[in-house]
Amino acid sequence: MKILTVVGARPQFIKAAPVSRAIRKSYEEVLVHTGQHYDKAMSDVFFEELNIPIPEYHLHVGSKSHGAQTGEMLTKIEEVMLKEKPDCVLVYGDTNSTLAGAVAASKIHIPVAHVEAGLRSFNRRMPEEVNRVLTDHVSKWLFCPTQTAVNHLASEGIQKGVHLCGDVMLDAVIYNGALAKEKSTILERLDLKAGAYLLITLHRAENTDDPSRLSEIIKAINQIDQPTILPMHPRTKGKLVQFDLRITNPFVNCIDPVGYLDMLQLETNASKILTDSGGVQKEAFFAQVPCITMRDETEWTETVERKTNVLVGANSEKILHALAQFEVDFTRVDPIFGTGDAADQIVQQIHADLVEGK
Ligand code: UD1
Ligand code: UDP
Repeated sequence: MKILTVVGARPQFIKAAPVSRAIRKSYEEVLVHTGQHYDKAMSDVFFEELNIPIPEYHLHVGSKSHGAQTGEMLTKIEEVMLKEKPDCVLVYGDTNSTLAGAVAASKIHIPVAHVEAGLRSFNRRMPEEVNRVLTDHVSKWLFCPTQTAVNHLASEGIQKGVHLCGDVMLDAVIYNGALAKEKSTILERLDLKAGAYLLITLHRAENTDDPSRLSEIIKAINQIDQPTILPMHPRTKGKLVQFDLRITNPFVNCIDPVGYLDMLQLETNASKILTDSGGVQKEAFFAQVPCITMRDETEWTETVERKTNVLVGANSEKILHALAQFEVDFTRVDPIFGTGDAADQIVQQIHADLVEGK
């Protein structure tokens, strides 16, 4: 069995690591990196730390408008697929690399497996929502992290090929958690005390590309009165310059994006996490750290229902209020994201359907 995997953006490297490992135990994998993310801190660092094999193909597509980026990926991915003739194409999440991989494969009749299927924000202005809806609708296998995701697909008429397997990000955290504790020296390097700092990530287009939302968020960040670390996504760095906004708060240390092990260590030891990232909302849950999400809606509704995560939009008052007041009792929270064996389940299911013809 030959699986062709398409990745391109930071969270996809992290999601692909456990699945790649599971595939390569018994089967052949061709790894394609679209080049959507290309800075060392956004790409290479994850391949090195997570022992992800060097991609067989690097397409170097880089940053472009949605159409230009997705279009160039489509053309180049199709060429690779025609040459490699895989049995199946594996895509992750909801980026432009996901959509390009799924569309390229489905047009030439290669079955698509979508990991993290069924997620919905019901906000079609998000590029991610468009990418995930379209990808789900051309996929043969829809690997869902949660029952909510399964339900979303059912309400769109998709039941065949849907598998509830848990979240591959939990697999990654379980595999790397102890390693992060042992190897990461980030707390010492940044002079942070466990449990006594806030962690912030901010990159979602709906926040960074809208000057009024971004300035509200920066207004809140500039009023924080406790040690805070902010590994800054390159998109945000660019937009702050473009809109002439500055983080001037001496409590807030803005650093370059960090590697995964450092990130796990920062998350685990933070007192609270303020974010607009999808992956970081889940990792906050795994680390049992209260999560404050700077969005108006989330795909990870289960975390909000369990009151481990609170939505504050891009409202500086709500952000500051949650930072001061929001507390979580994790002792009574049930697990949501499976048991950490999603990667094995995904590979076994694809093999069963393709090779054993079950
Ligand atoms: C992309 C995904 C988003 C995901 C995020 C993960 C889409 C539409 N968006 O958003 O769903 O949450 O990745 O991080 O696919 N840049 C660099 N260096 C890099 C990469 C990006 O400088 O290595 C800068 C460029 O100015 C670029 C901007 O960041 O234009 C945005 O990059 P892009 O990949 O288009 O979108 P993300 O915001 O990273
Ligand atoms: N991450 C990281 N270093 C950072 C910021 C994030 O390793 O400086 C990891 C984080 O732990 C999570 C993933 O990147 O596993 C989330 O990616 P991101 O927030 O870019 O995208 P999203 O999940 O929102 O699509």
